[in-house]
Amino acid sequence: MKQQWWHDKIVYQIYPKSFADTTGSGIGDLNGITEHLDYLQELGIDLIWLSPCYPSPMADQGYDISDYRNIHPDFGTLEDFDRLVAEAKKRGIGILMDLVANHCSDEHPWFQAAMKDPKGYYGKYFYIEEGIDGKEPNNWRSYFGGSAWERVPNTDNLYYLHMFHKKQPDLNWENPLLRQEVYDFVNFWFDRGVVGFRIDAITDIKKPPTLRGRNYPPDREDGMVFCKTMLQDAHGIGDFLTELKEKCFAPHQAFTVGEVCGQREEETADYVGEDGYFSSMFDFEVVSEESKDGGEWMKKRFITPQMYRAAMERTQKRMEPIGLIGTVLENHDLPRIANRMLRDEDRTDMAKKMLAVLYLYQKGIPFIYQGQELGMENTFNPNVASMQDVSSHDEYRVCKEAGLSEEEAVRIVNRYSRDNARTPFQWDATANAGFTTGTPWLPVNENYTRINAAAEVADADSVYHFYRRAIALRKNPEYADALVYGVFDSVHFADDNIIAYTRTKGSTKLLVICNFQNKKTSCHVGKASVLLDNYADTCIEAGEMTLRAFEAVVLSVES
Ligand code: GLC
Repeated sequence: MKQQWWHDKIVYQIYPKSFADTTGSGIGDLNGITEHLDYLQELGIDLIWLSPCYPSPMADQGYDISDYRNIHPDFGTLEDFDRLVAEAKKRGIGILMDLVANHCSDEHPWFQAAMKDPKGYYGKYFYIEEGIDGKEPNNWRSYFGGSAWERVPNTDNLYYLHMFHKKQPDLNWENPLLRQEVYDFVNFWFDRGVVGFRIDAITDIKKPPTLRGRNYPPDREDGMVFCKTMLQDAHGIGDFLTELKEKCFAPHQAFTVGEVCGQREEETADYVGEDGYFSSMFDFEVVSEESKDGGEWMKKRFITPQMYRAAMERTQKRMEPIGLIGTVLENHDLPRIANRMLRDEDRTDMAKKMLAVLYLYQKGIPFIYQGQELGMENTFNPNVASMQDVSSHDEYRVCKEAGLSEEEAVRIVNRYSRDNARTPFQWDATANAGFTTGTPWLPVNENYTRINAAAEVADADSVYHFYRRAIALRKNPEYADALVYGVFDSVHFADDNIIAYTRTKGSTKLLVICNFQNKKTSCHVGKASVLLDNYADTCIEAGEMTLRAFEAVVLSVES
């Protein structure tokens, strides 16, 4: 693998709305991020991915952009952004922006112009089609529920396509003029000093050649089909992405990570191989494990250690000849990992530390989502109607339509709601967890007096300090090469609840072992020295290691 500057980096994702508020508005802002850069530097991360902070009506919390070249006034100004970039740079931290270009906001001037003149210049920036027999052009269901088509106002029979919310009209990448607009604003941010992008919903930019009348067999009683089904007839995305890379990413030696979902397996190398469109893409394998029986939340399965291991092995095997995957436990769309993978009775600091070890040393680029390093947890909101996440409302409706009781529907929606990851960052034990002096836009998790940054920074034994040590190990020059480039091999011990793997490069061999259960077990490790343990001591006798509940270790072993 040809070495790249970003291969050994660790990325921290910030959801600006929920990180730190310096104005008392109840909404986080860019200055809040700048204020806390020392905290992030101490943690040891290299890059920050900012979820969207552009002007937006916030129908999908900023993933609906109404101006690609500015900062939402709630978050600050372009000058604040420049200061953030400069201050981060001083600390050796680079900034990644979120590139959301499958769709824009219906309040973007392009779309407003298109609605006034659907057949005109800006109409061609979108997918506008005639309906059929007074109905939508086809039977696609949007990600967030309901038809993926919305009537163009003041017309009888014209509709525009929105794969996501109706306030997120899809941009037509077939139009070279639109593509040039995208390249121009991407370069606008490079000129302001960003080092790369996370790229949103990118597989959706390529549609089949005709949309009107392209119906697929319904997958629910509503007669519609999940819009992503269209990907089977969408070919040629590579032309767009090659152009994007050549015009924007390559000249800036950018680090880019794609939210690539539903691509053809054989095309993975085109995406993230040595000459791929992107540097990396996220590992969503365990997400698909979780949703195997259908996309709806009520059909999701609890992730067991065995499911996790199977997903990890598939990803690592698939990626070995190709490149580095972005390894993740959490992001702004997923429940907190402590709830996703630990049962109520097991949700301890020790187990949270084990989860860190589980993924940090796999082959890939680790992403840490804000608060994950504190062990932040899901929240509970009995009033679904008051949830901020758009997808929660539709999932609640689906649960109810399927005949689930109110209690069960509320339980499921709370388990998977995207609000879980978006509650304010817990800085300290003062009012509103020190996030704001005003009223937070989303209630703070009640557990903030126990789980917060100030308490954890002060406690050498906290989840936070464990993450710090774990990151430091990944960067230790003695092992960095093996941890970045070393071959990954899964190791199966007799106890099926142990997840273990090795990373080998030259004469260095590291053995990572996670006892993913609330009881003691043991395994054979041979001659080993201990590099990291979530317990204070390590029990290895004559090559046999005793593992306590949720114990996780990194060992250097003989190769
Ligand atoms: C991605 C984002 C998600 C957003 C969607 C539409 O999946 O991660 O938050 O709702 O794209 O932009």
